[in-house]
Amino acid sequence: MPMKHSTYSVIIVGSGIAGLYAAIKMSETMKVPDGILLITKSQLAECNSRYAQGGIVGVLPENKSDSISLHIADTIKAGCGLCDFNVVKFISENSNNAIKDLMKYGVKFDKNDKNELNFTLEGAHSVRRILHVGGDATGYGIEKELVNKVKNDPVISSNITIYEQTLATDLLVDSKNTCRGIITFNTISHEYETIYAPVTVLATGGTGQVYKYTTNPVVTTGDGLALAIRANAQIKDMEFIQFHPTALSIENDDSRFLISESVRGEGARLVNQNGEYFMDSYPQKDLSPRDVVARAIYAQFAKGNKVYLDANLINIDKFKNRFPNIYKTCLDNGIDVEHDFIPVSPAAHYCMGGIKTEVNGKTSISNLYAIGEVACTSLHGANRLASNSLLECVVSAFELVNTLSNSELHASQIIDEKIMNTIKQYSDSEFEYDSEMFNVDNLLQKLKTVMWEKVGIVRTESSLMKALSDIENIETEFKKYNKSFSKCSNLSEYELRNLIYVSKCIINFALARKESVGAHFRADSEVQKSNKDMNYAEEKTNDSKVIA
Ligand code: SIN
Repeated sequence: MPMKHSTYSVIIVGSGIAGLYAAIKMSETMKVPDGILLITKSQLAECNSRYAQGGIVGVLPENKSDSISLHIADTIKAGCGLCDFNVVKFISENSNNAIKDLMKYGVKFDKNDKNELNFTLEGAHSVRRILHVGGDATGYGIEKELVNKVKNDPVISSNITIYEQTLATDLLVDSKNTCRGIITFNTISHEYETIYAPVTVLATGGTGQVYKYTTNPVVTTGDGLALAIRANAQIKDMEFIQFHPTALSIENDDSRFLISESVRGEGARLVNQNGEYFMDSYPQKDLSPRDVVARAIYAQFAKGNKVYLDANLINIDKFKNRFPNIYKTCLDNGIDVEHDFIPVSPAAHYCMGGIKTEVNGKTSISNLYAIGEVACTSLHGANRLASNSLLECVVSAFELVNTLSNSELHASQIIDEKIMNTIKQYSDSEFEYDSEMFNVDNLLQKLKTVMWEKVGIVRTESSLMKALSDIENIETEFKKYNKSFSKCSNLSEYELRNLIYVSKCIINFALARKESVGAHFRADSEVQKSNKDMNYAEEKTNDSKVIA
């Protein structure tokens, strides 16, 4: 059957907060003669940002204890000086507009009884500045309103075509390094389509599923990153994976429900089975940066201890009101937070690295943009300051639309031999394949275990080398059944293929950085942080004091 072809003005891959917000802004403000195509491999509302509990950073003038300079300083300190100062400043300065714009779209941030916005605290923030929705359902609360706009607003929705259950399998990049569109795979009908567009935006989220234990939903398989790696886009900072310190850890259950850091922000503390509050010896105690807390818990485990959150320190009525989903999930697992400690352990949560971009999502490939977790704007450096990422999604998506010119959306399309060859891989009916024998889940579980055990919170040269060889063996096994490593027969095979690309990428970056910094901890390194980075952090933190 010949492959279907179509053309849009813009393709947006991914329907998390970054993708939805970009689609809305483009539809509202730009001329899109061929329309906007929004594709998601799942359903419109299913994405990683939907699960963000704690919140979104709001550096707002009405919050008198806060300032842009304080937020910049906190971000750069948490990021161990590896953040890009200008990006941090830009995102911080645009926080007020981003929050007010979300409110305009109907997002209802929680307020106190004086009808003022209610700010909470998370690790490494020096003041309360985090806004939340529905107590502990911030991602869901934002996502719901944006989905509503995309689907039901008569003006916005008229320009947007939605493809659900559709995976992007390759970028169409020509010999001049310009992206001309994508190939898609319908995960239900298994049909392929070639879609051309003068602008392609990747907003596919993170990579959490590369690890055995993750707070991320099952859709988070690094698909956009794998597309970019296959297309030779520049990638940055992939050694920096954030492990959230407090995921609910139930025996014989590998899933890891997030216990928001704002639970500690509201007074809960980490404790071991001996009743020791072991974070007391750290300067920022239980609200130290995430990498610090995750390693402290790891050290407890290494001593054979178990780790819990003591949430009894929070008034139970307040807890139920502030954290209704956490309260319910704990109860569903037999934990009554009024009386019981919550068993927790770290889990992969966020990828600080990604496709190297400018703050507006511009990548090293012309006409290709990346926004949200798939991108690396260098806001986060070596360790993301909590709740900065939802803010980054909105500000980057806004800036993408703000800097795109209408003429870019009208550019004529040139299809060269390189693109034709990419398309041919998917239109060829010849497909050497032995899917009957291919146990995808088995290889997937192996990959996730290798990454958790050898490329996790603590790494060494030898654990990384061993991990690389294990992942290469998994790739070889994959190729026994599917030689091409491009066209696959179903969604899970594509996802496994993508996770193989992502795993190798994380390992290679982790091997290249010999010293420990932020979330990348090399147990075999004497150097905890290079002097250069320390000086940079100091210098930039001082710089930030003169702003605002
Ligand atoms: C949390 O609520 O602890 C997660 C928020 C974030 O990752 O920014």
